[in-house]
Amino acid sequence: VGKDGTRVFDLRMQAGETEFEEGRKTPTWGFNGSYLGPTLRAERGEKVRVRVRNSLGEASTVHWHGMHLPARMDGGPHQMVAPGATWSPRWTVNQPAATLWYHPHPHGATEQHVARGLAGLFLVDDKESAKLALPKEYGVDDLPVIVQDVRFDGAEFDHDHDFMGDLGFLGDRTLVNGTLNPYREVHDELIRLRLLNASTARTYDFGFPDGRAFALVATDGGLLERPASMDRVQLSPGERAEIVVRMRAGERVTLRSFPQDNYGDAWQRRFGGGDDSFDVLELRAADRLRPSAELPSALGELEIPDGEGAAVRGRHFDLKLSGINGRDMEMSRVDETVTRGTTEVWTVRNSNGMPHNFHVHDVQFRVLEVNGKTPPPALRGPKDTVFLPHGTTMKLALRFDGPADPDTPYMYHCHLLYHEDQGMMGQFVVV
Ligand code: C2O
Ligand code: CU
Ligand code: CU
Repeated sequence: VGKDGTRVFDLRMQAGETEFEEGRKTPTWGFNGSYLGPTLRAERGEKVRVRVRNSLGEASTVHWHGMHLPARMDGGPHQMVAPGATWSPRWTVNQPAATLWYHPHPHGATEQHVARGLAGLFLVDDKESAKLALPKEYGVDDLPVIVQDVRFDGAEFDHDHDFMGDLGFLGDRTLVNGTLNPYREVHDELIRLRLLNASTARTYDFGFPDGRAFALVATDGGLLERPASMDRVQLSPGERAEIVVRMRAGERVTLRSFPQDNYGDAWQRRFGGGDDSFDVLELRAADRLRPSAELPSALGELEIPDGEGAAVRGRHFDLKLSGINGRDMEMSRVDETVTRGTTEVWTVRNSNGMPHNFHVHDVQFRVLEVNGKTPPPALRGPKDTVFLPHGTTMKLALRFDGPADPDTPYMYHCHLLYHEDQGMMGQFVVV
């Protein structure tokens, strides 16, 4: 923390080597290390500054995914950091407690930069959530779980797309926090997992083989109104979920990703990853567990727009691999202009035959409808990214209350990073 109370972070993007398996060194990229990056953490109301130094041989950016902040600080494709340069965005954290993340966003190269290892968590805390009886001891009963799929070609990462390459890269092994075959010993009855799908294209449907229920307590942008009991939670690239799992003394249980029947047609399920199943993380409970407090029945009030009455304007987004609304991303074209302080309803539709998702920078939105129906519990919290398998239409309520900046756009895009790189991205300004 600096003299004026600003919390200062140093992030250095660097190339290195990582030994995922003994005796096998893979060239990778990381922040302040060879793979992934440190978990950054700040409290609502705090001023933060990040000194981002680029020690790679090529230009990149660092985007604060899920963060509400001025467009110039967003780290999208307009805030490139040249090799050897340092970029120092600053902003005041002003949003509820949440599991956010950061990753590069250079136009056309995001998939490669993330797949090489550039990603990390950014946790936001606030006073209200600090008072709740939720597991919150980081690394003890509150665990970060960054999930990525990888493939090795000998000692090296293989990032080639296979013949179903339209979806992007699909790996055949899973990393959690950069670790192959991960397990974790736990000593508490209740364990909170902060799940982040940091994969470039793969969607997971997380659950446990014994079918046990867990409590979903938070989505992308923070806590739900109340815990929701479920046995599966589906996360497409970029999405987060916080779940609380009850452990039994001495047991071993493995978080898995299961086949997904909403993923598309038989072809997409078979060759696009929908039928795949992976072990993700084994939890090994100690023989004696520390008792945990019961989860609170209420977690707080949502700070997302309800979209009723207040919406001044509707927009439509049609997702196709060839671009959104028939247009490829163009750095010099602003696609949408929104008015500061207003609420809008965006209708997003995928009838493109393959799975896509939709992410909007700067805001946390509310899902109003999925195919004309009330959204399921997993889509009732603050969201910045939503999964839209083929045949899905969603209505989202968004409120833009940051500072106006007619010259610097924010992005909306498909977060399957190959699709984003191919031009499934558009730009909006807040004026
Ligand atoms: Cu996670 Cu536009 O990004
Ligand atoms: Cu983002
Ligand atoms: Cu897509």
